[in-house]
Amino acid sequence: MSKQPPENWSSRIGVILAVTGSAVGLGNFLRFPGLAAKYDGGAFMIPYFVALLLLGLPLAWAEWSMGRYGGTRGFHSSPGIFRVLWKNPAAPYLGVLGLIVPVVIYMYYVFIESWCLGYAWNYLTGGLDLGRDPEAYKTFFGNYVGIGADASIFSNLLGAPLVFLVACIALNFILINRGLTRGIELFCLWAMPALAVCAVLVLVRVLTLGTPDPSKPELNVLNGLGQMWNLDAGNKTLWEQLANGKMWMEAAGQIFFSLSVGFGVIITYASYMRRNDDIALSSTTAVAGNEFFEVSLGGMITIPAAFVFLGAAGAVGGTFALGFNTLPLVFEHMPLGRVIGFLWFFLLFLAAITSSLSMLQPAIAFLQEGLGLNRGRAVALLCGVGSLGTLLIVWFSKDLAAMDTLDFWVGTFCIYVLACAQTFIFGWIFGTKRGLEELDRGADTRIPRLFAFVIKYISPVYLLIVFVAWAWQDVGSRLDDFTESAAVRWSLIFLVGVFALFLWWIRIAVKRWHAQEARS
Ligand code: ALA
Repeated sequence: MSKQPPENWSSRIGVILAVTGSAVGLGNFLRFPGLAAKYDGGAFMIPYFVALLLLGLPLAWAEWSMGRYGGTRGFHSSPGIFRVLWKNPAAPYLGVLGLIVPVVIYMYYVFIESWCLGYAWNYLTGGLDLGRDPEAYKTFFGNYVGIGADASIFSNLLGAPLVFLVACIALNFILINRGLTRGIELFCLWAMPALAVCAVLVLVRVLTLGTPDPSKPELNVLNGLGQMWNLDAGNKTLWEQLANGKMWMEAAGQIFFSLSVGFGVIITYASYMRRNDDIALSSTTAVAGNEFFEVSLGGMITIPAAFVFLGAAGAVGGTFALGFNTLPLVFEHMPLGRVIGFLWFFLLFLAAITSSLSMLQPAIAFLQEGLGLNRGRAVALLCGVGSLGTLLIVWFSKDLAAMDTLDFWVGTFCIYVLACAQTFIFGWIFGTKRGLEELDRGADTRIPRLFAFVIKYISPVYLLIVFVAWAWQDVGSRLDDFTESAAVRWSLIFLVGVFALFLWWIRIAVKRWHAQEARS
């Protein structure tokens, strides 16, 4: 049991915006359009929606149910909550993933967040007036993030990349230090509407572009939307496209990343709900909100904008290439492009910070309830560990190798493992009957009973198939990188160190919890 004074969300709209803020992030505006364009839009939307219905939504409900159950028993972090749900000595240690996943993702996410703020600033000050040469944008991005050589952004300690990075780290920790309601909730209460306004303004600009070049009538907004939705947008038939296993894996990974499911975040946020608060409708609203931002705003801005100016080939590119190289070039072609460029990167920044804040809360909650630290100390300790990780990522910036390694092992591999653990604990240990009772208490809507069957049988099988296929395909080659690249080696050594540190802390926490229980 925690000795900390109980913390709760102060309003229903506050918690919905905080959870939606955690979900809506760079995944919605950069990762999703990148994947949809890579797999020819319409065909990708099929495995995407299947994964949403069979994995994302059921797991989100499970996390809300387990989180609130643990929270009303005094625990707010995965180690504590898993221990309440499963009377097995291994349970709190399994919860380490619910701390490591968000903390390590935060370490690189905050770096990308700082690029967004830096780009927004550059649009305001004219630093991105680079003309119409595509190479100029690639060079600008490469220099900004230090892609050419390790540690290159340290060559100018007062340069924009480092200044904006430090500003973003400071802002995250100042806000998280203010606490759940005065920090996260209050910030999301104004940031989410501001984000929606920026996104709608950019969307209106994109949808009113018409046919910018009359000599190329096929490059119009309607065909741009078709690029995202038509089932036959590519050269292959729909069935040929659906036979691509990698597309199913990437669609499932996108759902996890985007909804912040399997992150350890929702379970912590839900633990701050009161016993009789509605969680069924709030969770469903947050998922629906995320999908609105992802599909209706993220997808419909990026792909059509790139298509009308650059054609089908222009709409394709990696996650960062589309957002940081292609779109600035597109804004250059567009009337009011500089304003739109500012709005776009500022909205990316807002989306990112509401997500990165949520990644810090699980570990803060753990340090408080597990090690008995007060909030200030917990924040300072996490700031130290988090900044060390960010330093490693920024140091090994050549080809963004450290970021890529941690994103692979934590942002994909560990998310799958945590999602499997959560499904197992919810479906087979906690039990769907108790889980549904928790979701029903105080609920304004009834979760379909089919959910119990899906989370117990369908989600685990789906998850395992996708996970095994993915691991089979990708893990071997990643292990080879260990011997070949110093960045990969140091990233993995660092990761093992972070695991060891958190497992040691969990051991201390378990002893403290036993002692507290023996006394009461
Ligand atoms: N859910 C967050 C995003 O989509 C992490 O970026």
